Amino acid sequence: NTTYLKDYRVPDYLVDNTDLHFELEAKVTQVRTRLKIRRNPKAGDGLPPLFLDGVDLQLFSVTLDGIALSSTDYQELPQGLSIPVEKPEFVLEIHNSINPEENTSLEGLYLSNKMYCTQCEAEGFRKITFYPDRPDVMSKFTTTIVASKDHPVLLSNGNEIGRGHCEDGRQFVTWEDPFPKPAYLFALVAGNLEHVEDVFTTARGRKVKLQIFTEAKNIGKCDHAMRSLKNAMRWDEEVYGREYDLDIFMVVAVDHFNMGAMENKGLNIFNSACVLASPETATDSAFQRIESIVGHEYFHNWSGNRVTCRDWFQLSLKEGFTVFRDAEFSADLNSRAVKRIEDVTLLRTNQFAEDAGPMAHPIRPDSYMEISNFYTLTVYEKGAEVVRMIHTLLGADGFRKGSDLYFERHDGCAVTCEDFVRAMEDANQVDLTQFRRWYSQAGTPVLDVTDQFDESTGVYRLIVRQSCPVTPEQKDKLPFHIPFAMGLLDSTGSGIALDKAGSTQLVLEITESEQVFEFNGLRERPLPSLLRGFSAPVKVRYDYSLEQLLFLMSHDSDTFNRWDASQRFAFKAMNQLQSAYQEGLSLELSPELIVAYRNILLNKELDPALVAEIMLLPSEHSIAEESVSIDAEAIVAARTFARKSLSCALIDELKERYAELDIERPYSPNAKDIAERRLKNICLEYLCVTESADALDLAQCQFDSAGNMTDSAAALSALINYGNDQYAEQAIHQFYDRWKEDTQVTELWLAQQACSAKRGTLNNIKALMQHPAFELKNPNKVRAVIGGFANRNFQQFHKNDGSGFEFVADQVIALDKLNPQVASRVVIPITRWKKYSGELAGKMKAALLRVSNSGELSKDVYEVVSKS
Ligand code: ARG
Ligand code: ZN
Repeated sequence: NTTYLKDYRVPDYLVDNTDLHFELEAKVTQVRTRLKIRRNPKAGDGLPPLFLDGVDLQLFSVTLDGIALSSTDYQELPQGLSIPVEKPEFVLEIHNSINPEENTSLEGLYLSNKMYCTQCEAEGFRKITFYPDRPDVMSKFTTTIVASKDHPVLLSNGNEIGRGHCEDGRQFVTWEDPFPKPAYLFALVAGNLEHVEDVFTTARGRKVKLQIFTEAKNIGKCDHAMRSLKNAMRWDEEVYGREYDLDIFMVVAVDHFNMGAMENKGLNIFNSACVLASPETATDSAFQRIESIVGHEYFHNWSGNRVTCRDWFQLSLKEGFTVFRDAEFSADLNSRAVKRIEDVTLLRTNQFAEDAGPMAHPIRPDSYMEISNFYTLTVYEKGAEVVRMIHTLLGADGFRKGSDLYFERHDGCAVTCEDFVRAMEDANQVDLTQFRRWYSQAGTPVLDVTDQFDESTGVYRLIVRQSCPVTPEQKDKLPFHIPFAMGLLDSTGSGIALDKAGSTQLVLEITESEQVFEFNGLRERPLPSLLRGFSAPVKVRYDYSLEQLLFLMSHDSDTFNRWDASQRFAFKAMNQLQSAYQEGLSLELSPELIVAYRNILLNKELDPALVAEIMLLPSEHSIAEESVSIDAEAIVAARTFARKSLSCALIDELKERYAELDIERPYSPNAKDIAERRLKNICLEYLCVTESADALDLAQCQFDSAGNMTDSAAALSALINYGNDQYAEQAIHQFYDRWKEDTQVTELWLAQQACSAKRGTLNNIKALMQHPAFELKNPNKVRAVIGGFANRNFQQFHKNDGSGFEFVADQVIALDKLNPQVASRVVIPITRWKKYSGELAGKMKAALLRVSNSGELSKDVYEVVSKS
């Protein structure tokens, strides 16, 4: 049961109107649907049977144009209903029931802490009622919700058009959404909720009521999300000319949620962790995450809702574009360079690993068994890079012309990635034929760059060869069209003019498998700065010497590439350490690296955020991604040694910068303060790496006196990772006692322990899962503990005895029965066994096989496991 893009057919029937009526009860919720259906004129002649998707539903009755059908008049199949049809237009009424309380999949309608809520993307609506659950069926919805008085707040999409009391004491509210939409954008919320309210006036003067709903205890944590929402609404008007289109925009925070958030029309539903924040309880990165996700979901109102996807193969049409939009939003409001470094780091470690793994797929996949498995870094983040490349090729104005045309042409329609690219072409009279390969070819392209300089003629040549590794079902790849931003530095560090206009940066367009670019009139051999700003999602290989990298680190005009040079430098040093470890030699960190890091740390001219990013050193995962064959033990040994050596060598400088940045001020999550806190806390961590008593005193002191969660969490982390057992235990208990009523802080507390190489041993992880703060049915807790262990505790997860892999296998088997979407994420770390060297590969494969032989698997887990 694989679905293929090539098999796409338009829907047989369209639904012009959808009227829904819910009577909410925890165990038996009644759903009555009235659908105005007509034959799709584009689907050909004849009247095929009408098929409606439906899963886990109890069917009571079907009525066609007012006449009740008997159960022999239609077929009830495992995946839905098939109903013979005799006329091209009719009204179908269905009555069924569902059980929200038992719904642990968190798809469809379910209960979270007594609140009813829905998640319908991608295919959850079929768990609510029988319906053509596909995004190219767009319908006008009205929704009536009936519930008892313990659920006074009753929400759905659009505008409220009625409310009242039933004779039995229950209440009802009716909502109408004037915009036709696919079922995946439907939402319903019912609960005992409080809300904060604000108003936004659009550019054309529409007054929009903004409301954020939460449980009463969280009402003080909504301000940042509200501010972010207003910023997003303004930004989309200014940058894309897009205005909001309803009189009300609602956001609801829900504790049990499979993903970050969902862009339901007019009623966004958020994972509590992605919307609730206060300075006392949320870290800087939580503040930034909230801003970007609030923006992301809001931007979907145009890129996703007004213009939606024809089918789920087109997911990147809305997600890639919207991630690009939210990234630019964050870059405009904060530090652009830091945002870029963070995004590229995520891409290089995790998306590149996806490209190199068994589930590799193009941003527009050709087939899937379970679409939920394709909400990936490839579709989202690489998809955003593909949109960014179009932006780079066309320039900001050309891109805006293209997006204007796209929204105008396709407003109210369900379209394809192809339609997006064509709008960009048509608005700019360009040809993106070759560029389209980014949508169909998987894998991370590699650019091998060499150069030549002819002193006698002053000609400099860059020779660029592109290739792309084999991925599942794709052996041979055609050359990509790659925008390659670059500059040349002279020996003073200045940028050399590269064209008549005197620009020091060019975007070379790479289209062939081998290309030579010539630069004339150079007086000396230049130093190339390549792929500036990460202008394409590729790997660049160029044989820089350590001296050249140091030179780029201090002189490149492109901030991103200064950081990138530091990464290349650190990679080189760490590779040396790894080899020494493997050969049983004694380890020594290259003295050049220490000098370079000292200079960086003391450089007050540099943005502290950049200093922080450089000081961090590449993570174990990014070193693993760069390895041909992963030797986990050597990676841990090399990185631990490098950090200890830096810590010992720079102890005075670290203390100095820590003291200087440790200033008291009221908390504000602005770019400058965030940067300073980050560098300060990185200094603290480095100081503690040696486990010296006075460093740990600093951590303890910060732990006791911190006025915000960023500093508090950083101190806790230092104590957990480097303090002796007694100190660590004490900090863990104190912190929990202080914050046990706060769900978001508790999640952070769980994650810190699970991610710790020292504390997150398998026994401790198992104990943590018995702690009252843990809940297997809550995805955030699962991600904190099990995800933290498997994805962020490199050392313990990769223990040589394979116990980490066996543990993950056990959890996947248990979770699959509760929540397949979560289970199929948890399994991923044990699917990449082919990349490992030595016995770990065999042990990982054995754990995976155990999952695969554990009995009946969900489609979700089955797909991931069987492809590995
Ligand atoms: N559209 C949502 C977002 O990215 C994510 C929905 C995820 N749903 C799922 N079944 N994986 O904003
Ligand atoms: Zn999205």
